[in-house]
Amino acid sequence: MVQEFDKVGVVGLGAMGAGIAEVFARAGFTVTGVEIDSAAVDLGRDRVHASMDKAVHKGKLTEAERDSILGRIAFSTAREDLANADFVVEAVPESIEIKRDVFADLDRVCPPGTILATNTSSLSVTEIAALTGRPEKVVGLHFFNPAPVMKLVEVVGTVGTSPGTVGVTAEVAKRIGKTPVTVSDRAGFVANALLVPYINDAISVYERRIASREEIDTAITKAAGFPMGPLTLADLVGLDVCVAVMDVLWEEFRDPRYAATPLLRRMVSAGMLGRKSGQGFYDHSGADNPAED
Ligand code: 3HC
Repeated sequence: MVQEFDKVGVVGLGAMGAGIAEVFARAGFTVTGVEIDSAAVDLGRDRVHASMDKAVHKGKLTEAERDSILGRIAFSTAREDLANADFVVEAVPESIEIKRDVFADLDRVCPPGTILATNTSSLSVTEIAALTGRPEKVVGLHFFNPAPVMKLVEVVGTVGTSPGTVGVTAEVAKRIGKTPVTVSDRAGFVANALLVPYINDAISVYERRIASREEIDTAITKAAGFPMGPLTLADLVGLDVCVAVMDVLWEEFRDPRYAATPLLRRMVSAGMLGRKSGQGFYDHSGADNPAED
């Protein structure tokens, strides 16, 4: 059955959604990427094009291959354009109100057999599934940043997700070149439940001035062989996303390990969100970094 899957919808074309649309198109799927308005569509299209152009520049893709992949992605502001989708991935901001709006539309527009997957990292998939009339067809499909590169996806089944939906989603993940792990709908799933407290601990070490940000990152990359240190990773993930994941872990388990470090919370309040805002633990904009003071 899964071999017949062809048409995929991606709702939300931010850093994650654009990467997800690219991954599906590269794997041969026909993709419709939907954003809220034409300005957001333009930004999403630019993200996908920039990523593809980089691949051509590096000699990883020919221009013809790039054009063929891009030719498989349609961009739209109309969720109605997902009426023929076999499989939809939602990657909109982490607000239950926004998800409610999106899933109500998807439930109305998509055929009853369409699987609706959410890329949420900090909301309950069960709660999202309950927003639809087809909870057995709702599943988590959690990508990691940068989505085109990171091999892992978590396939998150809820108490209401049918085993068939979980199985098909894991097969789809393999078809796009990812390694799926099947996990239950608990705060942080598996990867973030381990990764985000580790980032939080590193921020605590930094806050206590035990070492500079560079020294903390070097200590971990060289000691543990991680590709990037925890503060660099926090900037990549987004400090707001780190806080959101910690807050759901705290809500669910009430374990002090999951209490966001005060510095992290203050940085988010100050709009220092990491790479996406130009400022985090490191400067991504060319200005001085107040977090270093
Ligand atoms: N989009 C597309 N491709 C990208 C990319 C991006 N944003 N960033 C890097 N790449 C590609 C590069 O083009 C390069 O491709 P190539 O091998 O075909 O030339 C490859 O990735 C390696 O990149 P670089 O050589 O520039 O740099 P690195 O070797 O340092 O790799 C990295 C960069 C892949 C980001 C690596 O540092 C890494 O794996 N870091 C850890 C990332 C991580 O842990 N992510 C998980 C975060 S948790 C999360 O997302 C969950 C969420 O819910 C919070």
